[in-house]
Amino acid sequence: MYVNLKALHLLVLLNDGMHHSASSLAKHLKCSLTSIYFLVYQLKNYSVDVVDIDGNIIRMNKPIVWLNTELIIKYTSVSSKKFDLRLFDIVDSTNNYLLNQLKRKALIKGTVSVVATEFQTSGRGREGRIWQCGFGNGLMFSMCWRFDKGVSHLSGLSLVTGIAILRVLKSYSIQNINIKWPNDILCNNHKLAGILIEIRGEICGPSYAVIGIGINFNLSESIKPSIDQKAIDLSEVTSNLIDRNQVFGELLLELHNILKDFNYYGFVYFKKEWISYHSYEGCEVDLIFPNGLSITGIVDGIADNGAICLLTPEGKKSFNVGNISVRSRAY
Ligand code: BTN
Repeated sequence: MYVNLKALHLLVLLNDGMHHSASSLAKHLKCSLTSIYFLVYQLKNYSVDVVDIDGNIIRMNKPIVWLNTELIIKYTSVSSKKFDLRLFDIVDSTNNYLLNQLKRKALIKGTVSVVATEFQTSGRGREGRIWQCGFGNGLMFSMCWRFDKGVSHLSGLSLVTGIAILRVLKSYSIQNINIKWPNDILCNNHKLAGILIEIRGEICGPSYAVIGIGINFNLSESIKPSIDQKAIDLSEVTSNLIDRNQVFGELLLELHNILKDFNYYGFVYFKKEWISYHSYEGCEVDLIFPNGLSITGIVDGIADNGAICLLTPEGKKSFNVGNISVRSRAY
């Protein structure tokens, strides 16, 4: 992946949030004024909110707290050998990166491979959607977890991953966070985080899950209009600045623990906790299927495999796919 290192260097200079004249930046980076304007344009392509005033004074709106391997590992509070953690400035998609490594059998055995990045050029969401987040504005990472069991035992994995995120974010006293089945993390009914799980492996095992997580921390103004759903970030819901490195480290630890329990006990062990986080438990909803058809019912828990249960006029039914759309009346 081509990364303009000079643009990154400029970003580091601007990250103090102060006003810089274009000429001083050019001097610092040993390049022409025209190059500075080109680099500013490049930063805007990474959705960095760079403001240029009268074409001369340049400033960055929201300084970035960079991801830092030592800090992240410190916050996992486990031996650094447990994780093979790689940080990038830019990749296409952290899920793609790990899926490729898996295909090439290039992952280190005995450790959990984790890849995080400041920016994705082709970030992917569920159902073919795009995941967009500006440079350093969020946490975007993927983890590859090996299960001895076969692929069929992994239903419920994405719901359990949602629990790990909720547990960590709730520890920061953030109010009104919940999960929309199967794994949208919402805050005040807006999307705060998403999960994309891609499974590879054999029917009888072993199987591998690439678990991709995106959490919005401090979305740049320039990216907000291009996000295709109502999005929210942590800076909007808490007055304290939440440290990405800390949340990341704590989330790695939580995922590590929860995935071990999931491997051992299965989803049923987490069912009650998951239902307690569900936004729409007891609500009348439409479940819209990928073919556009829908069914109406009242949400009545989830099945042992993570399928959503609806009370319909034809009785209680469970479904593995579909998108929930809430109706106004709650029971
Ligand atoms: C969704 O809610 O649609 C899922 C979004 C998942 C986004 C994350 S960001 C890190 C990882 N890499 C990707 O390309 N996608 C996931």
